[in-house]
Amino acid sequence: MKILLAFFVVVGASFIVAANNMNGVVRNYLTGQRTREDTQAAENLAAIYAPLFQSGDVTDLNNRLQEDALGLDGRLLLVDTDGKVQYDSLNGFCGQRLQLSEVLRVLSGEDTASYGMHRADREAVYRMTGEAEAEYVAYGAHEMTGSRGLIGALVYVSRIQGMMDSMNQVSRQLNTVFALIGVVTLVLALFLSRVVTSPIVNLSRTMRRMGEGDLSVRVPEKGSGELLQLAVNYNTMAAQLEKMDRSRNQFVSNASHELKTPLTSMKIMLETMLYEPDMPAELRQEFMRDINQEIDRLTQIITDLLTLTRMDNRQDAMKMEDLDMSALTEEIARLLRPVAEKRGQKLICRAAPGLRMRGDGGKLNQVLYNLTDNAMKYTQDGGTVQVSLEEEGENLVWRVKDNGVGIPREDQEHIFDRFYRVDKARSRDTGGTGLGLSIVKQMVGLHGGSIRVESEPGKGSCFIVTLPRDREGGRTAG
Ligand SMILES: Nc1ncnc2c1ncn2[C@@H]1O[C@H](COP(=O)(O)OP(=O)(O)OP(=O)(O)O)[C@@H](O)[C@H]1O
Ligand SMILES: [Mg+2]
Repeated sequence: MKILLAFFVVVGASFIVAANNMNGVVRNYLTGQRTREDTQAAENLAAIYAPLFQSGDVTDLNNRLQEDALGLDGRLLLVDTDGKVQYDSLNGFCGQRLQLSEVLRVLSGEDTASYGMHRADREAVYRMTGEAEAEYVAYGAHEMTGSRGLIGALVYVSRIQGMMDSMNQVSRQLNTVFALIGVVTLVLALFLSRVVTSPIVNLSRTMRRMGEGDLSVRVPEKGSGELLQLAVNYNTMAAQLEKMDRSRNQFVSNASHELKTPLTSMKIMLETMLYEPDMPAELRQEFMRDINQEIDRLTQIITDLLTLTRMDNRQDAMKMEDLDMSALTEEIARLLRPVAEKRGQKLICRAAPGLRMRGDGGKLNQVLYNLTDNAMKYTQDGGTVQVSLEEEGENLVWRVKDNGVGIPREDQEHIFDRFYRVDKARSRDTGGTGLGLSIVKQMVGLHGGSIRVESEPGKGSCFIVTLPRDREGGRTAG
């Protein structure tokens, strides 16, 4: 609306100025032309009449005056140096003094010729021109000179009402045209602004509905240019928000479920112990051990959840430092080797020496720990797990490879989702919650890296982590 208003003010003002100018130009052109013509006529006639006036041939003068006046469609008068009318083509003013400024200027010797257009009351104009209902009249005076100098003046009373009428008509027409153009522009601008603003109005309506909590609304992707781009971008954002909202709900419901399972089994065991006071001591002991295990499990889940949400909220600032990645890799392998050996598994570590990068040591430790832990967990007793670190171009690459159960193709894209487990029942006895890989993925992401898996069921899996070496600060610190 503001733009529209500004537009109207600017256009309206320029139209008024333009119309005025056009009118002025037309007026100047017409009056200028008429002034030149009338002045010229007066000059010519004065030259012709001066000798006749001096010689004083009354009849001849009167005849010629009347003839010339008729030809000019005006009135011709000859005045003497006192301003008294001597000859008049319409006869009415003979013997009277003409109090016209043009005549006075010429007779006083101020000018040789003088011309003026006047607006007067109708009666006066009628007396001068014999024209009824006219308001405008023009007087042209020109000196007549004889052998003794100034002998009088010729006065040409010009009928300009016709010209004035057509001038007014032209100006009325011009104004009408401008007014019409103005109205058309206004209507057009209103229409265009409706067209231009309707997508914005749509967008704002949609945004309001979205603000009220309905994330499923979308704006129509119509039109072209920036507005279309805006609608498309908006819809992309809305879809993303909807997806986030859905995954958050999913996450909460999964988390509640995961927390509820250990609580339920703990409650059952506790109630059994409560209502069977004389249960054997060993059984009671076993229940208490189980309950203790469930508490550990709950603690683990909650720790993982906290880790995840802290990374989500970016509260957990990255503690960037210069890391000896070769040493870090060896250290994890050293830490986990006893666990592998207990199950008869081989844990082989091949880290190229002296590879360094900037990163958050704690997080990268956990990445490799979780991956190696998985590799061992999902590999049968006696299997082999290989961990390697190499330099590839600008990146450092970890590969954690096992010859375990593998991951079916349709599950591969989901294993990084929170709480996702391929085989729920089996994972449950191995103690997993399905949060490990989502934590890994997020931590790798914070370092600007990526993770992918290559796996074949029954043959084994290989997790490949690519980390850019010289990325200062990662996502959070950047
Ligand atoms: N090396 C692997 N071999 C086969 N399957 C794997 C491997 N690593 C992960 N998976 C599958 O991906 C799922 C998700 O792994 P993730 O580490 O996120 O969860 P988890 O190991 O079950 O539990 P957590 O790590 O939270 O204790 C696992 O449940 C498992 O089914
Ligand atoms: Mg795991």
